[in-house]
Amino acid sequence: MTDATAPQETASPTFPPSSAFVQSAVARPSIYHEASHDRLAFWRSRAMLLSWETPFTEVLDWSDAPFAKWFVGGSLNAAHNCVDRHVLSGHGDQVALLAEYEDGTDARYTYSQVKDEISRMANVLESMGVATGDRVAIYLPMIPEAVFAMLACARIGAPHSVVFGGFSADALRSRIEDAQAKVVITADGQFRRGKALPLKSAVDTALASGADSVDHVLVVRRTGEDVEWTEGRDVWWHEARENASTEHEVVFVDSEHPLFILYTSGTTGKPKGIVHTTGGYLTQAAYTHRNVFDLKPKQDVYWCTADIGWVTGHTYVVYGPMANRTTQVIYEGTPDTPHQGRWWEIVQKYGVSLFYSSPTAIRTAMKWGEEIPAKYDLSSLRVLGSVGEAINPEAWRWYHRVIGQERCPIVDTWWQTETGAIMISPLPGITATKPGSAQVPLPGISADVVGDDGEPVGPGESGYLVLTEPWPSMLRGIWGDDQRFRDTYWSRFEGRYFAGDGAKKDEDGDIWLLGRVDDVMNVSGHRLSTMEIESALVSHEWVAEAAVVGADDETTGQAVVAYCVLKDSRDDDGADLDALVQELRAWVGKEIGPIAKPKYVFIVNELPKTRSGKIMRRLLKDTAEGREVGDTSTLADTSVMDAIARQLRG
Ligand code: PRX
Repeated sequence: MTDATAPQETASPTFPPSSAFVQSAVARPSIYHEASHDRLAFWRSRAMLLSWETPFTEVLDWSDAPFAKWFVGGSLNAAHNCVDRHVLSGHGDQVALLAEYEDGTDARYTYSQVKDEISRMANVLESMGVATGDRVAIYLPMIPEAVFAMLACARIGAPHSVVFGGFSADALRSRIEDAQAKVVITADGQFRRGKALPLKSAVDTALASGADSVDHVLVVRRTGEDVEWTEGRDVWWHEARENASTEHEVVFVDSEHPLFILYTSGTTGKPKGIVHTTGGYLTQAAYTHRNVFDLKPKQDVYWCTADIGWVTGHTYVVYGPMANRTTQVIYEGTPDTPHQGRWWEIVQKYGVSLFYSSPTAIRTAMKWGEEIPAKYDLSSLRVLGSVGEAINPEAWRWYHRVIGQERCPIVDTWWQTETGAIMISPLPGITATKPGSAQVPLPGISADVVGDDGEPVGPGESGYLVLTEPWPSMLRGIWGDDQRFRDTYWSRFEGRYFAGDGAKKDEDGDIWLLGRVDDVMNVSGHRLSTMEIESALVSHEWVAEAAVVGADDETTGQAVVAYCVLKDSRDDDGADLDALVQELRAWVGKEIGPIAKPKYVFIVNELPKTRSGKIMRRLLKDTAEGREVGDTSTLADTSVMDAIARQLRG
C-alpha cells in the first residue's frame, strides 16, 4: 500500500498529461482489491455498517434490469441510522450541526437534540395526515429545520421532494403536482445578502394555481416578516412544536422503499423526478462520505457548502455525514455576505477539517484574490473536495496552494443526481492525484469510456462515460415515468448506464470528464436544460422562437446564452430592444428561478436550422463563444449565420 498522504500532482495542466510527469502505476491497495475480488461481498460488508431492523437476504437482484433491488428483504430506517442509533450508542452529546446564520449568529444541535427535533416534526407531520409512502415537499433555506424536515419525513417513511429555495412558484407547483405532495414545509422567508426575502408567498402562489394534493403547509419562522395565512391549511412550526412530543417511533421500511424524489433537468422541458430508495442509497452515501473524505468522526469538523436543494445537500449534508455521526457546519448565507472572506472566517471559527465545495466557488474566490483567505487561519483543513463540474487545473492548483496550503489532498468527485453518491474520485492517502481528473471509479464501482459503437476507447480518445455494473445508490427510476427512465439512461448502450457526459481515459486509465454531450448545461455546477429555458422564453408574449446554448464562462463554467426571434406583430422600432432583453432575462428568472437567467439574450431575425427544421445549437454555441462558426453545410439557409454574426456585431 502506498502512503501518499500528500497529493502527487502532475506538472502538466493539459490533457493528455505527459506520462513523464504523471505518477505512474498508482498502487491500488487492499480496498480496491477487496472490491474487485468480490464486488457484491464488498457491498454487503458496507451495508452491514448500517443498522438493519431485518437483515437482508440477498445483496442484489438485477433480474428485472434496469430496475435494481439492493439488500433484498432487509428493513431499516434512514433517520434511525442517521440519528437514533448514535444516541443509543452513547453519542447523544456529540454535536451534529453547527449552524451558522448569515448575520453571524449561530446555533448548535447535538445528536440528542436533533433526535428530539425530528421526532417532534414527525409527530406534527403525522397529525397532518402524513403516512408512510405519502410525499412531502420541502422548500426551505439552509437552516437546521431543513435537515430536520428531511429526517422527519424519513422517520415516517414519507418520501421528501426538496425544491431549491431559489426556484420559482411555478417550478415549485409543477414539482408538487408531479409528486402529488400532501404537505409543504417552508419558511416565512430567507435571508439573502442581508435582505429578508419572502419564501412562503411562492408556496401561496403555487397552491393558488394548482397543486391540489396539498392539505397543509408547515411554516418555519425565520425572517419574522408578515405572511398571508390560510386558516386550517397553514401551521406555524414553532407553535406546533411546543405541543409535540419528543417521542416518536420510527417506521422501519423495506430496503427498496423510496427515501426521496429529487427533480433534475433533463434534455426535455419537463424536469425528471429522480427516485432514490433507502438501503442502497444510505449504504453508498455513508461509505463514500467516510472513504472519500477519510472521515474521523471524533476529530473532524466537516463542511459541505451545498444547499439541500441539490443532491449534494442530500447525500453530503444530510444522509452520508449523519449516518457516519459527523460533526458538521451548515451555513445559511452567501460566500460574500457581509464580506468576501466569510467562508474562510467560518473555517477558522469552527476549525473545519474536511471541506467540500464546487469549482465555480473556487474560481470566484480566485477572482476575489488570495489575500482574502490569507487573513484567516486555515490550518485545520485536512481534505478538500470538489463537485459539480470538472475542476480546471488552474483552479485545482489555487485550491491546493491557497486554501489547502499544499498540505491537503483534493478529491475531485464525479457523480450525478441519478447516481445518488460519488462514483469516480481519488481516495486521499491512496490515489496520487492529477489536477483536472476525477480519475478512478471508487472501489465497488465500474465505469468505462466507450465510443459510438459501444466499444471502450483507447488512451487519449474521447467517448461517452458509462457505468457498467449496477451500484447501490443508483436511481430506481423516474417518478411516474418508467419509459423515460429506460430511454434516457439504458437504451444508448445495451446493459450499461449512459451518464450523458463525455470523457477520456489517459495512459494510466484515469478518467477525465469533458462535459455534457446532451442539451443539458452546467452553470455554477447546476444542471439546467436548454429546452426548459427555451420553453420559458417562448411563453413570453413577444417571443416567437428561442434557442439556448451553454457558452464557456470563466467563473460559472458555462453561461446561459439565448437567441430569440420576436413575433412579427411586435411593432419594433429598435429603440427599446435593450429594455426587452432585460425583461426577457427577468422573465426567465421569474419562470424558473434566478439561476436560469440568461447572461446574454440576443434578438435575431432567424435561427439556424437544418432542412428538417432542427435548430443547430452547435453553430450558436460557436458564435456565443466567439469562435469561427463550424460546418454549416446542413443548414437550410446558409446565410443565416452570417446574418446573425452581422446583427451581433451591429
Ligand atoms: O456533467 C457532470 C457534472 O454534473 C452533472 C451532474 O449534475 P447534477 O445531477 O446536478 O449533480 C451535481 C452534483 C453531483 C454530471 O453529469 N459533474 C458533476 N461532478 C463533476 C462533473 N463533471 C466533471 N467532474 C466532476 N467532478
